[in-house]
Amino acid sequence: MAELIVSGLVRAFGDVRAVDGVDFTVADGEFLTLLGPSGCGKSTTLAAIAGLDKPDAGRISLGGRDFFNATTGTFVPPERREIGLVFQSYALWPHLTVRQNLEFPLKLRRIGRAERARRIEESLGLVEMIPYADRYPHALSGGQQQRVALARTLVYRPGLLLLDEPLSNLDAKLRERARTWLRHLQSQVGVTTVYVTHDQSEALALSDRIAVMNGGRIVQLADPRTIYDRPSDAFIADFIGSSNFLSGTVLASDNGTVRVGLGERLELSAPSPRPLAPGTAVRVSVRPEQIGVVDPSAANGANVFPAEILERTFLGAHNTLEVRAGESRFRVECRKVPENDHIHVHIPESAGIVFPQAAGH
Ligand SMILES: Nc1ncnc2c1ncn2[C@@H]1O[C@H](COP(=O)(O)OP(=O)(O)OP(=O)(O)O)[C@@H](O)[C@H]1O
Ligand SMILES: [Mg+2]
Repeated sequence: MAELIVSGLVRAFGDVRAVDGVDFTVADGEFLTLLGPSGCGKSTTLAAIAGLDKPDAGRISLGGRDFFNATTGTFVPPERREIGLVFQSYALWPHLTVRQNLEFPLKLRRIGRAERARRIEESLGLVEMIPYADRYPHALSGGQQQRVALARTLVYRPGLLLLDEPLSNLDAKLRERARTWLRHLQSQVGVTTVYVTHDQSEALALSDRIAVMNGGRIVQLADPRTIYDRPSDAFIADFIGSSNFLSGTVLASDNGTVRVGLGERLELSAPSPRPLAPGTAVRVSVRPEQIGVVDPSAANGANVFPAEILERTFLGAHNTLEVRAGESRFRVECRKVPENDHIHVHIPESAGIVFPQAAGH
């Protein structure tokens, strides 16, 4: 069982704690993504797992075997970890054909000729690159090179696949196709995978679970749906997708649901991850697509507010409205643009999450 365990991982560069006490486990065959803003410690974590960098503290093991253990002084060199690595710059050897690129790591491992040929065929088949086996890298498109780079790591059957922004050189359309294809490939091969990206839609689309990182720490680790619907703090709500933040004050708190006063006139009920005392300054995060434009006949319902449209933006599949309700301004996403500037909006209770003003930023 190739279960990856990372615990108490610390890596400092001078005063910067690039990785500041990171713990996570990736189950056998699982696809876990490290997601976070630039500089949050994703690549440093991946480099530690690969053995390209030596952490200051903690422990890393795969399938029960220690790769690194600061307490016992264990450090397995990268070439003995049997890990498949694909980085953003997926350098193929330019003077070798696709087939020779794949053959190289197998020769290094002293695998016999017949077995080499069989594995190369199999790996190129997985990435649908058999027809290109005798081409040189310069005669391939970026996406095709990316696929060869992946095939080259799969050819020697790594126990673990580490991918650091492997799709970042592709254009938007190709990137989307590569996502589907990569996910399919990963589940077909069944290899435990750690994927690094700062692209939240890529993380949501690909992962079994996502570890959101900020400032060298994991701030939330959960499945994509939970990360999107139930971010555990305002930083995550802001980083994943796009959220409105409505400022207000807690009026009352009851069993996980908080009634928030938005300015003088409006009241909104929404769940809060933690208990909040009346009078606490808060921000309620609400995703634009979860706010509904409703019929004025619903005007007396809970969480329904009169609002004024300030701006309309056409975005193809949907429209964005910039609206003002009382003293709050926020964005609403809708398919059909209302003709009248004066509308009513509904913020379903389950759509909002209340965070204390001090948390996040
Ligand atoms: N060799 C190094 N020497 C000094 N500081 C480093 C070194 N490597 C990384 N850092 C610092 O550690 C922090 C984390 O870097 P890391 O490369 O892990 O970020 P990242 O999350 O991968 O970001 P990005 O999305 O931009 O690739 C950054 O502040 C970076 O400047
Ligand atoms: Mg990085």
